Amino acid sequence: MSIPESRKRLLLIGASRGLGYAMAEEFLKRGWDVVATVRGEARTRLHELAEKSAGRIEIETLDITLPHQISAVRSRLSARTFDMLFVNAGITNNPQETIGDVSTEEFIRVMVTNALSPMRVVEALYDIVAADGTVGVMSSGQGSVSNNTNGQREVYRASKAALNTLMRSFAARHVTDRRAMVLMAPGWVRTDLGGPDGRLSIEESVPNVVSTLLAARGEPGLRYLDYLGRVVPW
Ligand SMILES: NC(=O)c1ccc[n+]([C@@H]2O[C@H](COP(=O)([O-])OP(=O)(O)OC[C@H]3O[C@@H](n4cnc5c(N)ncnc54)[C@H](OP(=O)(O)O)[C@@H]3O)[C@@H](O)[C@H]2O)c1
Repeated sequence: MSIPESRKRLLLIGASRGLGYAMAEEFLKRGWDVVATVRGEARTRLHELAEKSAGRIEIETLDITLPHQISAVRSRLSARTFDMLFVNAGITNNPQETIGDVSTEEFIRVMVTNALSPMRVVEALYDIVAADGTVGVMSSGQGSVSNNTNGQREVYRASKAALNTLMRSFAARHVTDRRAMVLMAPGWVRTDLGGPDGRLSIEESVPNVVSTLLAARGEPGLRYLDYLGRVVPW
């Protein structure tokens, strides 16, 4: 018997625009209630979507690089349980910059945002995910060490490879848990981050990302999957 999607709850981190915004929209379409985060006080597309959602999208504020904001979100949501936590927030730097060019400050900025901070969010919010729920983190195909035969985007790649390794360590520490864990490679998508040359539109990626996450439910352990549900080599 299929599980009805109604009244399932998603906690989505980083949904002001791009893939995160589209994920909020897609989960809403599929009958889920969504608590989604933005940075700062500025009005975003997500606010417009929330206003039209009859209360099914709630907005929280979180900059994932600020531990006190992660703690505050954790406290505000402590009485709730989510069927899925998905950490989407991420950044890139100048893709042409090699490891020989990058400043220490820029290296730290990318690593802290893409590797350390998503894991801090997972660590802090893991126990408000249902015991049979799903924890997903937005990785990238660029995080695959095996597939890195042509280099490029060196710092960004390294940050996603670090994220993957940290998530593997986290999964190893929780090996007896029933929660499904997914590192997601959404494809190269035309967003602010992906740029105009991306292979996929948001519409070609995000509904598939969501279907892949839903298909992973109920399967304990960590998998590195692309948007079509294919295994990505570590
Ligand atoms: N597009 C692609 O081709 C592609 C491919 C592989 C993986 N990804 C990954 O997919 C995720 C989303 O990318 P995108 O293409 O949708 O990029 P995007 O359009 O630039 O959106 C990035 C999102 O992350 C949020 N964010 C960035 N830093 C944050 C922080 N410190 N705290 C909280 N939120 C933060 C942004 O919020 P603000 O609006 O406040 O900046 C925005 O909502 C990223 O993790 C990215 O690495 C993208």
